[in-house]
Amino acid sequence: MGFPDGFVFGSATASYQIEGAVDEDGRKPSIWDVFSHTPGKTLGGDTGDVADDHYHRMDEDLDLMQSLGLHAYRFSVAWPRIVPDGRGAVNQAGLDFYSRLVDGLIARDITPIVTLYHWDLPQVLEDEGGWTVRSTAEAFADYARVVAEALGDRVDTWTTLNEPWCAAFLGYGAGVHAPGRTEPLAALQAAHHLNLAHGLGAQAIRSVLPDAKISITLNLHVFRPEGPTGPEAVRRVDAVGNRIFLGPMLEGAYPPDLFGDTAAITDWSFVQEGDLEAINQPIDVIGINYYSTSRVRLHEGDGVAARNDGHGGGDANPWPGSEAVEFLPLEGPLTDMGWNIDPQGLTDLLVSVHERYPDLPQMVTENGAAFPDVVEDGAVHDVERTDYLRRHFAAAQDAIAQGVDLRGYFVWSLMDNFEWGYGYSKRFGIVRVDYDTQERIPKDSAKWYAEVIRTGELG
Ligand code: NOJ
Repeated sequence: MGFPDGFVFGSATASYQIEGAVDEDGRKPSIWDVFSHTPGKTLGGDTGDVADDHYHRMDEDLDLMQSLGLHAYRFSVAWPRIVPDGRGAVNQAGLDFYSRLVDGLIARDITPIVTLYHWDLPQVLEDEGGWTVRSTAEAFADYARVVAEALGDRVDTWTTLNEPWCAAFLGYGAGVHAPGRTEPLAALQAAHHLNLAHGLGAQAIRSVLPDAKISITLNLHVFRPEGPTGPEAVRRVDAVGNRIFLGPMLEGAYPPDLFGDTAAITDWSFVQEGDLEAINQPIDVIGINYYSTSRVRLHEGDGVAARNDGHGGGDANPWPGSEAVEFLPLEGPLTDMGWNIDPQGLTDLLVSVHERYPDLPQMVTENGAAFPDVVEDGAVHDVERTDYLRRHFAAAQDAIAQGVDLRGYFVWSLMDNFEWGYGYSKRFGIVRVDYDTQERIPKDSAKWYAEVIRTGELG
């Protein structure tokens, strides 16, 4: 079976990873500006100061998207451009940039899909506690309303948050992402306030756009159990990795087993009356980001469990309450991130979400791979990336054949960009960016993708 009629083929980026221009037109620092400028936090000290210079090259990038035939483009809005002080005064120049982007997309027949939070929290809000405090969720809702008012006449699909797991647990637990805190309690508080931000944000968008389509993008983890303790290990990391978001957002409750697992860290008294109702807003589509899988069991013997969960770099554990879970070495071939290649994991994930939430349409909002590309005679023959994408698109077709209501697929990423703690060392783009000249070179994978979009066939 192929892709259904109307299937959306797109590509995705995020503001801090591509825009640069970090102090232009009224933008103020985000937590990623501060974190990346802190020595030792990113590989090579790389920052998003210039990145792909997309802020100044928007037209060229729009033409690139058009040349690939993209149906849709998923981008994020930088909160510190729109409300530079986190709350209060709105910066019209920031709104104008995204308004021009949306106009440019529509003029090229490309549907804009807006993400409101892809990790660039205004630093002033972090100084007040960041995602560990509920006032940040309230400020997010105000910011969401401002963007909805400005772009809502042309944008119909809104994603509140991108990968809140990473924002909470890599940012406040493992400390490998901004703001770089390593406190299990703070990570759990952050998860809750991100949940709350999703719910309050969804309500704020609908208050100005009653017909808006609301979505959330989650990096749902696929865990493979290993040996006799595997199922218990999966239960634990599934609770703090997946159900901590799915439960409140889609079912109006945290999973009871999560409270037990985390009892030594918190009594969850930061969850206030009414929060779960606020979080549990109807959504129109769930966005799923998928890259790889993990193999887990309970740690055998004493001491701290080994970690190879693909989110390395720090010594602190991003799995509060699941410290006893051991992540086993991944079986190759691996991508440049050290992540395994397991297309079946995508099928399994989409099918399992469909079984649990049969009426909820899905989109793959990110899938792709980093490989060490080589430029030869002005071309990049990225056979491995093309193969990775072909196999994962086929895996998505398998899920569709099994009844999954999958509406679209966004390749991560349109172009090479700032890969967070790894800086520019990891290239996920289907278009190469030469960081010295800012030249864009469509890789072979981009040419392959353009053909997929044109013909509907995986080639
Ligand atoms: C998930 C994130 O949303 C994106 O920002 C990141 O670059 C990719 N995965 C690859 O790690």
